[in-house]
Amino acid sequence: MEKKIKVGVLGATGSVGQRFVQLLDGHPWFELGALFASERSAGKKYHEAARWFLPYEMPEAAADMVVRSINDIKDDEELAIMFSALPGSVAKDVERRCAQAGYCVASNVSVHRMEDDVPLVIPEVNSDHLAMIKRQKSERNWNGFIVTNPNCSTIVLALSLKPLMQFGIEEVRVATMQAVSGAGYAGVPSMAILDNIIPFIDREEDKMQSEPQKILGTLDADLRVREAAFTVCASCHRVPVMDGHTEAVWVKFEENVSESTIKEAFKSFHSDLKTPFAPEKPVILREEKDRPQPKLDRDACRGMAISVGRIRAGKMKNEIKYIAQGHNTVRGAAGASILNAEVMLERGYI
Ligand SMILES: NC(=O)c1ccc[n+]([C@@H]2O[C@H](COP(=O)([O-])OP(=O)(O)OC[C@H]3O[C@@H](n4cnc5c(N)ncnc54)[C@H](OP(=O)(O)O)[C@@H]3O)[C@@H](O)[C@H]2O)c1
Repeated sequence: MEKKIKVGVLGATGSVGQRFVQLLDGHPWFELGALFASERSAGKKYHEAARWFLPYEMPEAAADMVVRSINDIKDDEELAIMFSALPGSVAKDVERRCAQAGYCVASNVSVHRMEDDVPLVIPEVNSDHLAMIKRQKSERNWNGFIVTNPNCSTIVLALSLKPLMQFGIEEVRVATMQAVSGAGYAGVPSMAILDNIIPFIDREEDKMQSEPQKILGTLDADLRVREAAFTVCASCHRVPVMDGHTEAVWVKFEENVSESTIKEAFKSFHSDLKTPFAPEKPVILREEKDRPQPKLDRDACRGMAISVGRIRAGKMKNEIKYIAQGHNTVRGAAGASILNAEVMLERGYI
C-alpha cells in the first residue's frame, strides 16, 4: 500500500475502542486519524480520557490525540473508515449518518447486524456476503455503507461450525463462559463477579440464537441471504476471566459423524486470506485433553484464531460435543472489524 488510509474510531475510550487503538498502531494499511467518544471525553487528550487497562503501552500516536464528540463528526472528514464500538443506543443514528455521508462503517454493534441488506461477516466464512453492500447503497441511496461483525460469542461459535457444515447440521446447543471484558469497561462490578458466575447476559442468547444462521447462510442472486436451516439454543454466563470466551458446544447432525471425521474437518479447515490480520489458521485443534483454555489459547495467531478441543461423541443420536475458545475483544470485536476492513479494501469496496 503506497499511502496509509486514515480511519476513525467511534467509542475509542471503551473496552473495544481501546483494542482498536492498540491493534491499529503500526497497521501497514490503516492509520488512526480521529478518535470519537461521548461529550464526557470530548476535548481531552486520549491518555486523559481513556482509563487504559490493556497490558500494552498506550500507543504514542494516540496518547496526545484530542478526543472528539460523536456529535462533532463532519460529512467530509479526511477518513475513509469509521470503526464503531459505540453502545447500541447511540450507534444506530451515528452509524447511519456516517454511512449516508460516504464513510465505510465497520461496526461491532448489534443494532444493524440483522438488517437484510447489511452484511454480517466473518471473512473466512462468508466474505461473499460483502456483495450485499451494492444493494444497501443503491436501495438506501447512501454514499457509504455499514458492514458488521458478529457478537463476540457468535463469532467463536460460527467459525467453529463452518468446517462442520458439510456434514449437515440439524441443531446446535451451546453454553458460554464469557469474560468480563465483554461487558465493557464499567460493565460488571468486581464485587459481583469475583468468586462468582453470573448466569445472565442481557440479550446475548438472542444474538447467539439468530446470528449464526445468517452468517452460515447462502447469498442468493438477488443479494439476499437465505439463512442456514439449523436451530441454535444458547445459555450465556459471565465468568471471572479477563479476556477470552469459552463455549461448550453440542452439535446434532443429520447422520452419524465420527469423532475422527470431525477432528479431520477442524484440522484441514484453512483460509486463503492473506491480509495483515488474517490468521494463518482460523481454527486451531488442541489435542491436549484439558484444552482449550482462555489463559493458554486466547492469544493464538495474535488473538485472531479460535481454538477447539475435547471433541467427543454426545449421548444423543448423531451428536458430537466440543469446546471452542476465542479472544472476545480481538477476534470477537476490534480484530474482526479490522479484518473485515482489510478484505473490503483488497476487494475494492473501499
Ligand atoms: N466488549 C466486547 O467484547 C464486545 C464484543 C463485541 C461487540 N461489542 C459491542 O461494542 C460496543 C462497545 O462495547 P464496549 O464493551 O467497548 O463498551 P464500553 O467499554 O462501555 O465503551 C463504550 C464507548 O462508547 C462511548 N459512549 C458511551 N456513551 C456514549 C454517548 N452517549 N455518546 C457517544 N459515545 C458514547 C464511550 O465513551 P466515553 O468514555 O466518553 O463514555 C466509550 O468510548 C457495544 O455495542 C458492544 O455491544 C463489545
